Amino acid sequence: MSFEDPLILGIESSCDETAAAVVRGGKSVLSSVVASQIDIHRKYGGVVPELASREHLRQIVPVVREAILQAGIEMKDLDAVAVTCGPGLVGALLVGMTYGKVLAMALGKPLIGVNHLAGHVHAVFLEAHMTGAKIPELPAVCLIVSGGHTMIYRVRSEGGTKATRPYSYERIGGTRDDAAGEAYDKVARMLALGYPGGPIIDQLAAHGDPNAVKFASPKMSGNDFDFSFSGIKTAVLYHLQRHPELQPEIEKRKESIANGHRSAVDLKPLCTQQTLDLIASFQGAVVEDLVTRTLSAAQRNGAKSVLISGGVAANRELRTRFESEGKNGNLDTYFPSRALSTDNAAMIAAAGYPSYASGLFDDSTLNADPNLSLV
Ligand code: KG4
Ligand code: ZN
Repeated sequence: MSFEDPLILGIESSCDETAAAVVRGGKSVLSSVVASQIDIHRKYGGVVPELASREHLRQIVPVVREAILQAGIEMKDLDAVAVTCGPGLVGALLVGMTYGKVLAMALGKPLIGVNHLAGHVHAVFLEAHMTGAKIPELPAVCLIVSGGHTMIYRVRSEGGTKATRPYSYERIGGTRDDAAGEAYDKVARMLALGYPGGPIIDQLAAHGDPNAVKFASPKMSGNDFDFSFSGIKTAVLYHLQRHPELQPEIEKRKESIANGHRSAVDLKPLCTQQTLDLIASFQGAVVEDLVTRTLSAAQRNGAKSVLISGGVAANRELRTRFESEGKNGNLDTYFPSRALSTDNAAMIAAAGYPSYASGLFDDSTLNADPNLSLV
Protein backbone atom coordinates (compact mmCIF):
# COMPACT_ATOMS: atom_id res chain seq x y z
CA MET A 1 0.00 0.00 0.00
CA SER A 2 1.24 3.46 -0.87
CA PHE A 3 -0.14 6.90 -1.55
CA GLU A 4 0.40 6.46 -5.29
CA ASP A 5 -0.96 2.94 -5.44
CA PRO A 6 -3.80 2.96 -2.92
CA LEU A 7 -6.05 -0.05 -2.47
CA ILE A 8 -9.58 1.26 -2.87
CA LEU A 9 -12.63 -0.81 -2.06
CA GLY A 10 -15.52 0.11 -4.35
CA ILE A 11 -19.13 -0.56 -3.38
CA GLU A 12 -22.08 -0.32 -5.80
CA SER A 13 -25.77 -0.88 -5.04
CA SER A 14 -27.65 1.73 -7.10
CA CYS A 15 -29.96 -0.65 -8.96
CA ASP A 16 -30.17 -4.44 -9.07
CA GLU A 17 -26.55 -5.49 -8.70
CA THR A 18 -24.79 -5.72 -5.35
CA ALA A 19 -21.12 -5.27 -6.19
CA ALA A 20 -17.78 -4.83 -4.46
CA ALA A 21 -14.28 -4.61 -5.93
CA VAL A 22 -10.72 -3.85 -4.92
CA VAL A 23 -8.76 -1.69 -7.35
CA ARG A 24 -5.11 -0.70 -6.99
CA GLY A 25 -4.08 2.80 -7.99
CA GLY A 26 -7.29 3.36 -9.96
CA LYS A 27 -5.87 1.11 -12.67
CA SER A 28 -5.59 -2.51 -11.67
CA VAL A 29 -8.59 -4.64 -10.67
CA LEU A 30 -7.62 -7.12 -7.93
CA SER A 31 -11.16 -8.41 -7.51
CA SER A 32 -14.63 -7.58 -8.78
CA VAL A 33 -17.63 -9.40 -7.37
CA VAL A 34 -21.16 -8.84 -8.69
CA ALA A 35 -24.26 -10.48 -7.19
CA SER A 36 -26.97 -10.03 -9.81
CA GLN A 37 -30.64 -9.95 -8.86
CA ILE A 38 -31.88 -10.75 -12.38
CA ASP A 39 -33.51 -14.02 -11.26
CA ILE A 40 -35.51 -12.17 -8.60
CA HIS A 41 -36.80 -9.41 -10.90
CA ARG A 42 -37.26 -11.60 -13.98
CA LYS A 43 -40.85 -12.60 -13.26
CA TYR A 44 -41.85 -8.93 -12.97
CA GLY A 45 -40.14 -7.98 -16.26
CA GLY A 46 -38.22 -5.16 -14.54
CA VAL A 47 -36.57 -4.08 -11.30
CA VAL A 48 -38.90 -3.96 -8.26
CA PRO A 49 -37.32 -1.35 -5.94
CA GLU A 50 -38.45 -2.93 -2.63
CA LEU A 51 -37.15 -6.34 -3.63
CA ALA A 52 -33.88 -4.76 -4.78
CA SER A 53 -33.27 -3.11 -1.37
CA ARG A 54 -34.06 -6.33 0.50
CA GLU A 55 -31.67 -8.31 -1.68
CA HIS A 56 -28.88 -5.72 -1.31
CA LEU A 57 -29.27 -6.08 2.47
CA ARG A 58 -28.80 -9.83 2.18
CA GLN A 59 -25.86 -9.61 -0.20
CA ILE A 60 -23.77 -6.62 0.86
CA VAL A 61 -21.75 -8.29 3.64
CA PRO A 62 -20.90 -11.53 1.77
CA VAL A 63 -20.15 -9.64 -1.46
CA VAL A 64 -17.70 -7.24 0.23
CA ARG A 65 -16.08 -10.14 2.11
CA GLU A 66 -15.68 -12.07 -1.14
CA ALA A 67 -14.08 -9.07 -2.87
CA ILE A 68 -11.53 -8.73 -0.05
CA LEU A 69 -10.85 -12.47 -0.10
CA GLN A 70 -10.41 -12.64 -3.89
CA ALA A 71 -8.07 -9.63 -3.79
CA GLY A 72 -5.88 -11.60 -1.35
CA ILE A 73 -5.84 -8.77 1.18
CA GLU A 74 -7.33 -7.99 4.57
CA MET A 75 -9.72 -5.17 5.39
CA LYS A 76 -6.97 -3.34 7.26
CA ASP A 77 -4.89 -3.16 4.05
CA LEU A 78 -7.46 -0.91 2.39
CA ASP A 79 -6.58 2.75 1.89
CA ALA A 80 -10.09 4.05 1.19
CA VAL A 81 -13.70 3.08 0.62
CA ALA A 82 -15.45 4.49 -2.47
CA VAL A 83 -19.19 4.10 -2.59
CA THR A 84 -21.93 5.02 -5.09
CA CYS A 85 -24.05 7.80 -3.59
CA GLY A 86 -26.37 8.37 -6.60
CA PRO A 87 -28.17 8.44 -8.93
CA GLY A 88 -30.31 5.31 -8.56
CA LEU A 89 -33.04 3.74 -6.46
CA VAL A 90 -32.92 5.44 -3.09
CA GLY A 91 -33.52 2.33 -0.98
CA ALA A 92 -30.92 0.40 -2.95
CA LEU A 93 -28.35 3.21 -2.77
CA LEU A 94 -28.82 3.56 1.00
CA VAL A 95 -27.76 -0.04 1.64
CA GLY A 96 -24.35 0.21 -0.04
CA MET A 97 -23.74 3.78 1.03
CA THR A 98 -24.54 3.19 4.70
CA TYR A 99 -22.44 0.03 4.76
CA GLY A 100 -19.52 1.78 3.04
CA LYS A 101 -19.73 4.72 5.39
CA VAL A 102 -19.76 2.56 8.51
CA LEU A 103 -16.95 0.37 7.19
CA ALA A 104 -14.76 3.39 6.43
CA MET A 105 -15.41 4.78 9.91
CA ALA A 106 -14.73 1.44 11.61
CA LEU A 107 -11.47 1.01 9.69
CA GLY A 108 -10.48 4.64 10.17
CA LYS A 109 -10.04 5.00 6.37
CA PRO A 110 -11.15 7.83 4.06
CA LEU A 111 -14.62 7.68 2.51
CA ILE A 112 -15.25 8.78 -1.09
CA GLY A 113 -18.78 9.25 -2.45
CA VAL A 114 -18.90 8.48 -6.19
CA ASN A 115 -21.47 9.40 -8.82
CA HIS A 116 -22.62 6.19 -10.54
CA LEU A 117 -22.49 7.84 -13.97
CA ALA A 118 -18.90 8.96 -13.36
CA GLY A 119 -18.26 5.28 -12.59
CA HIS A 120 -19.51 4.33 -16.07
CA VAL A 121 -17.17 6.91 -17.63
CA HIS A 122 -14.21 5.62 -15.59
CA ALA A 123 -14.98 2.04 -16.67
CA VAL A 124 -13.68 3.06 -20.10
CA PHE A 125 -10.39 4.42 -18.69
CA LEU A 126 -10.04 1.40 -16.43
CA GLU A 127 -10.41 -0.91 -19.42
CA ALA A 128 -7.63 0.94 -21.27
CA HIS A 129 -5.33 0.67 -18.21
CA MET A 130 -6.09 -3.03 -17.81
CA THR A 131 -5.50 -3.93 -21.45
CA GLY A 132 -2.58 -1.57 -22.07
CA ALA A 133 -4.59 0.14 -24.83
CA LYS A 134 -4.31 3.84 -25.61
CA ILE A 135 -5.83 6.00 -22.88
CA PRO A 136 -8.71 8.03 -24.39
CA GLU A 137 -7.74 11.64 -24.97
CA LEU A 138 -9.84 14.42 -23.48
CA PRO A 139 -12.01 16.29 -24.14
CA ALA A 140 -14.19 13.32 -24.98
CA VAL A 141 -17.84 12.74 -25.64
CA CYS A 142 -19.32 9.89 -23.60
CA LEU A 143 -22.54 8.03 -24.30
CA ILE A 144 -23.84 6.34 -21.15
CA VAL A 145 -26.45 3.89 -22.30
CA SER A 146 -28.08 1.45 -19.90
CA GLY A 147 -31.43 0.34 -18.51
CA GLY A 148 -31.71 3.52 -16.46
CA HIS A 149 -29.79 6.10 -18.51
CA THR A 150 -29.19 7.29 -22.03
CA MET A 151 -27.10 10.45 -21.90
CA ILE A 152 -24.38 12.16 -23.88
CA TYR A 153 -21.79 14.10 -21.87
CA ARG A 154 -18.73 16.12 -22.77
CA VAL A 155 -15.91 15.07 -20.43
CA ARG A 156 -13.01 17.34 -19.46
CA SER A 157 -10.15 16.70 -17.08
CA GLU A 158 -10.64 19.61 -14.72
CA GLY A 159 -13.32 21.10 -12.46
CA GLY A 160 -16.23 18.92 -11.48
CA THR A 161 -18.74 18.55 -8.67
CA LYS A 162 -18.20 16.89 -5.31
CA ALA A 163 -18.87 13.36 -6.53
CA THR A 164 -17.18 13.68 -9.96
CA ARG A 165 -14.02 15.68 -9.23
CA PRO A 166 -11.53 16.30 -10.68
CA TYR A 167 -13.29 15.62 -13.98
CA SER A 168 -16.08 17.81 -15.22
CA TYR A 169 -19.05 16.89 -17.32
CA GLU A 170 -21.32 18.91 -19.52
CA ARG A 171 -24.63 17.42 -20.55
CA ILE A 172 -25.01 17.53 -24.31
CA GLY A 173 -28.11 15.41 -24.70
CA GLY A 174 -30.21 12.69 -23.16
CA THR A 175 -33.38 10.71 -23.51
CA ARG A 176 -36.65 12.54 -23.13
CA ASP A 177 -38.51 9.38 -22.19
CA ASP A 178 -37.28 5.76 -21.97
CA ALA A 179 -33.63 4.77 -21.67
CA ALA A 180 -32.41 2.61 -24.58
CA GLY A 181 -32.00 -0.46 -22.33
CA GLU A 182 -35.52 0.10 -21.02
CA ALA A 183 -36.81 0.02 -24.63
CA TYR A 184 -34.93 -3.26 -25.20
CA ASP A 185 -36.49 -4.70 -22.04
CA LYS A 186 -40.02 -3.51 -22.89
CA VAL A 187 -39.88 -4.75 -26.49
CA ALA A 188 -38.53 -8.09 -25.26
CA ARG A 189 -41.48 -8.29 -22.90
CA MET A 190 -43.99 -7.63 -25.73
CA LEU A 191 -42.35 -10.30 -27.87
CA ALA A 192 -41.98 -12.77 -24.96
CA LEU A 193 -38.18 -12.95 -25.14
CA GLY A 194 -37.54 -12.88 -21.39
CA TYR A 195 -35.74 -10.42 -19.12
CA PRO A 196 -33.41 -8.61 -19.52
CA GLY A 197 -34.17 -8.03 -23.20
CA GLY A 198 -30.85 -6.61 -24.40
CA PRO A 199 -28.68 -9.73 -24.57
CA ILE A 200 -31.34 -11.93 -26.24
CA ILE A 201 -32.33 -9.27 -28.79
CA ASP A 202 -28.61 -8.77 -29.48
CA GLN A 203 -28.26 -12.47 -30.33
CA LEU A 204 -31.52 -12.94 -32.26
CA ALA A 205 -31.13 -9.73 -34.30
CA ALA A 206 -28.18 -11.31 -36.13
CA HIS A 207 -30.66 -13.70 -37.79
CA GLY A 208 -33.06 -11.08 -39.12
CA ASP A 209 -33.19 -8.38 -41.80
CA PRO A 210 -32.74 -4.93 -40.20
CA ASN A 211 -34.40 -3.26 -43.19
CA ALA A 212 -37.58 -5.35 -43.11
CA VAL A 213 -39.62 -3.02 -40.88
CA LYS A 214 -39.19 0.75 -41.19
CA PHE A 215 -39.16 2.75 -37.96
CA ALA A 216 -39.14 6.52 -38.29
CA SER A 217 -36.20 8.23 -36.58
CA PRO A 218 -37.64 10.62 -33.96
CA LYS A 219 -37.26 14.34 -34.74
CA MET A 220 -35.94 16.06 -31.62
CA SER A 221 -36.92 19.71 -31.71
CA GLY A 222 -34.55 21.98 -29.79
CA ASN A 223 -31.65 19.55 -29.40
CA ASP A 224 -30.29 17.21 -32.09
CA PHE A 225 -28.52 15.20 -29.39
CA ASP A 226 -31.59 14.22 -27.40
CA PHE A 227 -33.12 10.78 -27.75
CA SER A 228 -36.62 9.34 -27.61
CA PHE A 229 -37.26 5.61 -27.47
CA SER A 230 -40.88 5.43 -26.41
CA GLY A 231 -42.02 5.95 -30.04
CA ILE A 232 -40.21 2.89 -31.34
CA LYS A 233 -41.56 0.79 -28.48
CA THR A 234 -45.10 1.87 -29.39
CA ALA A 235 -44.36 1.22 -33.09
CA VAL A 236 -43.44 -2.39 -32.20
CA LEU A 237 -46.71 -2.70 -30.27
CA TYR A 238 -48.74 -1.40 -33.26
CA HIS A 239 -46.84 -3.77 -35.54
CA LEU A 240 -47.87 -6.68 -33.33
CA GLN A 241 -51.49 -5.49 -33.33
CA ARG A 242 -51.44 -5.34 -37.15
CA HIS A 243 -49.97 -8.85 -37.32
CA PRO A 244 -52.13 -11.14 -35.15
CA GLU A 245 -50.51 -14.12 -36.87
CA LEU A 246 -47.49 -13.48 -34.58
CA GLN A 247 -49.51 -14.20 -31.42
CA PRO A 248 -49.31 -18.02 -31.35
CA GLU A 249 -45.50 -17.99 -31.36
CA ILE A 250 -45.53 -15.38 -28.57
CA GLU A 251 -47.59 -17.82 -26.48
CA LYS A 252 -45.14 -20.63 -27.27
CA ARG A 253 -42.17 -18.50 -26.17
CA LYS A 254 -43.99 -17.55 -22.95
CA GLU A 255 -44.44 -21.24 -22.22
CA SER A 256 -40.79 -22.00 -23.02
CA ILE A 257 -39.57 -19.22 -20.71
CA ALA A 258 -41.94 -20.36 -17.94
CA ASN A 259 -40.28 -23.78 -18.22
CA GLY A 260 -36.83 -22.23 -17.83
CA HIS A 261 -35.90 -22.51 -21.55
CA ARG A 262 -35.01 -18.88 -22.19
CA SER A 263 -31.67 -18.86 -24.04
CA ALA A 264 -31.31 -17.69 -27.65
CA VAL A 265 -30.83 -21.36 -28.65
CA ASP A 266 -34.17 -22.23 -26.98
CA LEU A 267 -36.09 -19.25 -28.34
CA LYS A 268 -34.78 -18.90 -31.90
CA PRO A 269 -36.66 -21.99 -33.17
CA LEU A 270 -39.81 -20.43 -31.68
CA CYS A 271 -39.37 -17.25 -33.75
CA THR A 272 -40.62 -17.03 -37.35
CA GLN A 273 -38.48 -15.12 -39.84
CA GLN A 274 -41.05 -12.32 -39.59
CA THR A 275 -40.31 -11.97 -35.87
CA LEU A 276 -36.54 -12.18 -36.36
CA ASP A 277 -36.86 -9.40 -38.96
CA LEU A 278 -38.86 -7.29 -36.52
CA ILE A 279 -36.23 -7.82 -33.82
CA ALA A 280 -33.38 -6.93 -36.21
CA SER A 281 -35.25 -3.84 -37.43
CA PHE A 282 -35.89 -2.66 -33.86
CA GLN A 283 -32.25 -3.06 -32.92
CA GLY A 284 -31.08 -1.50 -36.19
CA ALA A 285 -33.19 1.61 -35.56
CA VAL A 286 -32.03 2.01 -31.92
CA VAL A 287 -28.38 1.49 -32.80
CA GLU A 288 -28.61 3.88 -35.77
CA ASP A 289 -30.01 6.59 -33.52
CA LEU A 290 -27.42 6.09 -30.76
CA VAL A 291 -24.47 6.03 -33.16
CA THR A 292 -25.56 8.93 -35.38
CA ARG A 293 -26.43 11.35 -32.61
CA THR A 294 -23.37 10.52 -30.48
CA LEU A 295 -20.88 10.83 -33.34
CA SER A 296 -22.39 14.06 -34.54
CA ALA A 297 -22.27 15.38 -30.90
CA ALA A 298 -18.58 14.42 -30.85
CA GLN A 299 -17.86 16.21 -34.14
CA ARG A 300 -19.76 19.30 -33.12
CA ASN A 301 -18.06 19.50 -29.70
CA GLY A 302 -14.48 19.00 -30.82
CA ALA A 303 -14.11 15.67 -29.00
CA LYS A 304 -10.82 13.82 -29.36
CA SER A 305 -12.40 10.50 -28.40
CA VAL A 306 -15.79 8.87 -28.02
CA LEU A 307 -16.51 6.73 -24.96
CA ILE A 308 -19.45 4.33 -24.83
CA SER A 309 -20.42 2.74 -21.51
CA GLY A 310 -23.36 1.17 -19.64
CA GLY A 311 -25.19 -2.14 -20.11
CA VAL A 312 -26.27 -1.50 -23.72
CA ALA A 313 -22.61 -0.84 -24.64
CA ALA A 314 -22.27 -4.64 -24.54
CA ASN A 315 -24.35 -4.76 -27.74
CA ARG A 316 -22.37 -6.24 -30.62
CA GLU A 317 -24.01 -4.26 -33.41
CA LEU A 318 -23.56 -1.03 -31.45
CA ARG A 319 -19.85 -1.75 -31.03
CA THR A 320 -19.29 -2.64 -34.68
CA ARG A 321 -21.15 0.42 -35.94
CA PHE A 322 -19.35 2.81 -33.57
CA GLU A 323 -15.99 1.35 -34.48
CA SER A 324 -16.48 1.55 -38.24
CA GLU A 325 -18.27 4.90 -38.35
CA GLY A 326 -15.93 6.42 -35.75
CA LYS A 327 -13.03 5.50 -38.01
CA ASN A 328 -14.75 7.12 -40.99
CA GLY A 329 -15.09 10.31 -38.96
CA ASN A 330 -11.50 10.11 -37.61
CA LEU A 331 -12.74 9.55 -34.07
CA ASP A 332 -11.31 6.94 -31.72
CA THR A 333 -14.08 4.97 -30.02
CA TYR A 334 -13.61 3.19 -26.66
CA PHE A 335 -15.74 0.59 -24.89
CA PRO A 336 -15.22 -1.23 -21.60
CA SER A 337 -15.26 -5.03 -21.63
CA ARG A 338 -18.70 -6.55 -21.12
CA ALA A 339 -18.05 -7.09 -17.39
CA LEU A 340 -17.08 -3.44 -16.96
CA SER A 341 -19.96 -2.17 -19.16
CA THR A 342 -22.75 -3.42 -16.92
CA ASP A 343 -23.01 -2.25 -13.31
CA ASN A 344 -19.96 -3.21 -11.25
CA ALA A 345 -17.92 -1.82 -8.36
CA ALA A 346 -14.49 -1.76 -10.04
CA MET A 347 -15.63 1.31 -11.99
CA ILE A 348 -16.70 2.94 -8.69
CA ALA A 349 -13.32 2.27 -7.06
CA ALA A 350 -11.57 3.61 -10.20
CA ALA A 351 -13.75 6.72 -10.23
CA GLY A 352 -12.86 7.29 -6.56
CA TYR A 353 -9.13 7.24 -7.26
CA PRO A 354 -8.71 10.84 -8.55
CA SER A 355 -10.45 12.10 -5.40
CA TYR A 356 -8.12 9.97 -3.28
CA ALA A 357 -5.07 11.31 -5.11
CA SER A 358 -6.27 14.87 -4.49
CA GLY A 359 -7.11 14.19 -0.83
CA LEU A 360 -10.77 15.06 -1.41
CA PHE A 361 -12.77 12.95 1.02
CA ASP A 362 -16.30 12.76 2.32
CA ASP A 363 -17.44 12.49 5.91
CA SER A 364 -20.34 10.94 7.78
CA THR A 365 -22.73 13.54 6.31
CA LEU A 366 -22.48 11.85 2.89
CA ASN A 367 -25.98 10.97 1.77
CA ALA A 368 -27.66 8.98 -0.99
CA ASP A 369 -29.17 11.17 -3.70
CA PRO A 370 -31.43 9.28 -6.16
CA ASN A 371 -31.29 12.23 -8.60
CA LEU A 372 -27.60 13.08 -8.22
CA SER A 373 -26.47 14.95 -11.31
CA LEU A 374 -23.16 14.62 -13.09
CA VAL A 375 -22.90 18.29 -14.03
O1 KG4 B 1 -25.77 -0.85 -16.88
P1 KG4 B 1 -26.77 -1.93 -16.56
O2 KG4 B 1 -26.24 -3.26 -16.09
O3 KG4 B 1 -27.79 -1.48 -15.46
C1 KG4 B 1 -28.38 -0.21 -15.46
O4 KG4 B 1 -27.77 0.73 -14.89
O5 KG4 B 1 -29.47 -0.12 -16.08
O6 KG4 B 1 -27.67 -2.12 -17.88
C2 KG4 B 1 -28.70 -3.05 -17.98
C3 KG4 B 1 -29.43 -2.81 -19.32
C4 KG4 B 1 -30.68 -3.66 -19.51
O7 KG4 B 1 -31.72 -2.84 -19.98
C5 KG4 B 1 -30.27 -4.69 -20.55
O8 KG4 B 1 -31.34 -5.13 -21.36
C6 KG4 B 1 -29.25 -3.90 -21.37
O9 KG4 B 1 -28.55 -3.12 -20.41
N1 KG4 B 1 -28.29 -4.78 -22.06
C7 KG4 B 1 -28.16 -4.82 -23.41
C8 KG4 B 1 -27.20 -5.81 -23.68
N2 KG4 B 1 -26.76 -6.34 -22.49
C9 KG4 B 1 -27.44 -5.68 -21.51
N3 KG4 B 1 -28.78 -4.12 -24.37
C10 KG4 B 1 -28.45 -4.40 -25.65
N4 KG4 B 1 -27.55 -5.35 -25.99
C11 KG4 B 1 -26.90 -6.07 -25.05
N5 KG4 B 1 -26.02 -7.00 -25.41
ZN1 ZN C 1 -25.37 1.78 -14.47
